[in-house]
Amino acid sequence: MSETLKIIQERQSARVPFDQTRPISRENLEKILEAAKWTPTAHNMQNFEIIVVDDEAVLEKIGNIKSRISEEFLRENYEQLSFSREELMEKKTGILGAMFPPEWVDPAKIAEAVKKAAPTPLNQSIRGSPMLLLVIYDSRKRAPASRGDVLGFMSLGCLMENIWLMAQSLSIGLQIVSVFSAPPAETDIKKLLGVPDYMKIAYTIRLGYPKNATNYLRVRRDIKDFTHHNQFGNRGI
Ligand SMILES: Cc1cc2nc3c(=O)[nH]c(=O)nc-3n(C[C@H](O)[C@H](O)[C@H](O)COP(=O)(O)O)c2cc1C
Repeated sequence: MSETLKIIQERQSARVPFDQTRPISRENLEKILEAAKWTPTAHNMQNFEIIVVDDEAVLEKIGNIKSRISEEFLRENYEQLSFSREELMEKKTGILGAMFPPEWVDPAKIAEAVKKAAPTPLNQSIRGSPMLLLVIYDSRKRAPASRGDVLGFMSLGCLMENIWLMAQSLSIGLQIVSVFSAPPAETDIKKLLGVPDYMKIAYTIRLGYPKNATNYLRVRRDIKDFTHHNQFGNRGI
């Protein structure tokens, strides 16, 4: 297998606590940011800024900010769930319901769960990470003629993958955390870090060395399930 394909296949979401006492070295951070620098972006707009947070006091303050779960998230999250390993292996897309609290995975209980849910400190998402990368973008701009700035958002996705693959090649664990991007948490974080109003948090990256191995079922569709040869519907290659 080629080295590139190996890194791509072995990259995974490190949804585990990180070792708070093991920082990311300056040298490794520079490699990760060098990978970020060479991201392809629409019109080479390089439509991102990255806030590197590794100061313990700042991490603690972010950790104390509270997020709220939304009914919209829980309902749409439910649509992506499987309820057994067999179901997930059969579907080949989505994630396991067992990753979430029981009241989040029962549509009849979702509305009540949202009402009852206490605000959650972001500490529960940071989970000992010694470094966060907050990827932000200027919401006033868009890639030329790109409705809804789809091309700009794709560019931010390319940035994510460049960073992720570099981290993987350095054996650094990485998890994307979307909860920082939703109000009220986003508003509080921006205030804390002095981010101007017009900048939005695209996503947050937690980096670190996992305290325990990541061990969950990962599925993907087969190549023939997403390719069409010369004509739509003509499956496979
Ligand atoms: C735009 C985007 C947002 C994501 N948000 C989250 C998130 O908030 N929390 C999380 O644990 N994983 C998040 N992920 C990771 C995906 O859930 C994950 O990549 C997918 O389930 C496949 O698993 P793998 O990364 O282990 O291959 C996100 C991924 C992308 C591309």
